[in-house]
Amino acid sequence: MAHRKLRKPQELPSHKHDLTQVSDTFQLQDLNGSPNNTGFQETGYDPASSVYDMEYEECTGSELEFWVNESKTFGSRLLEFAVGTGRIAIPLARHGFQVVGVDSSQRMLDQAHSKKSLLPSPVQRRLKFKHGHMEQCRVDLVFDLAFVGFNSYLLLPDKESRIATLRNASCHVRPGGAVAVDVFAAVPLDAEPDHEEVEFLERDPTTGLRVTRERFYSHNSGLNRGQSTLVYRFYENQVMVCERRLGYSLALVSRDDVVSEFTDAGLEIDGIYGSYEREPWTPGSPILIVVGRNTSVDT
Ligand SMILES: C[S@@+](CC[C@H](N)C(=O)[O-])C[C@H]1O[C@@H](n2cnc3c(N)ncnc32)[C@H](O)[C@@H]1O
Repeated sequence: MAHRKLRKPQELPSHKHDLTQVSDTFQLQDLNGSPNNTGFQETGYDPASSVYDMEYEECTGSELEFWVNESKTFGSRLLEFAVGTGRIAIPLARHGFQVVGVDSSQRMLDQAHSKKSLLPSPVQRRLKFKHGHMEQCRVDLVFDLAFVGFNSYLLLPDKESRIATLRNASCHVRPGGAVAVDVFAAVPLDAEPDHEEVEFLERDPTTGLRVTRERFYSHNSGLNRGQSTLVYRFYENQVMVCERRLGYSLALVSRDDVVSEFTDAGLEIDGIYGSYEREPWTPGSPILIVVGRNTSVDT
């Protein structure tokens, strides 16, 4: 996911792994980045593909209700940029909407495809995934709503690529259709470094291995981005057999930044919310959802 910041350390189990016994078999095609824990390197989401769904369950509750209601308002043809493993797209397809999801990580899409293959046929027919970059991909269909959920808009490297993404989303929606992003507005705490101790996750469903995670967070003041490195360790009994690193950074933006990016992309602001229940955004709001309309006229 695109976690903004660390949660407070939870119960910390003792963390002992015998590095002398790391198995060659698993030792990593996926180990990217520097071997110490202080360096930061963007990895893309491939290293997280097998663990993403253990961390983030399928979208439910108020988050899902928000997207269902937006889809009912604007229409049933949906384009999700940065769809990942289909956490939001799959339940939306179950609700009867037609969803195309685009993502730049082939391994995240592979997970999405294998989950899709287990769905009832009518739901499968409503769901398509495509490899591509949200700034420039082309899908030869017209949509009622294009959106970027779960902070993924902030993964884009700079303001120009965010505006390009909004323009691209807008090009894909019908006149009067909408573009929406679900992000957060940065607060001073987001500039504080942090470290989350090891936490036990479930067992990897494919390998049965026990998985732990450690997270390092730092602020890049030059770029004003929050940088996270997540180290996933896979254990067979007490022996670590595999380690994967996910490095990603999120732009720390204000509400006004996001609103002006929508305006620069030619979108007319339709709503600015601070919760999935559509409460008005305030500086204390945990999230920031901006919805804009494509006001172009059909020719
Ligand atoms: C937080 S994860 C998945 C979010 C997913 N929408 C969800 O709710 O679980 C972010 C995703 O964004 C994708 N991503 C990052 N940059 C991208 C880009 N420029 N174009 C398309 N996908 C991108 C990553 O590959 C990753 O799958």
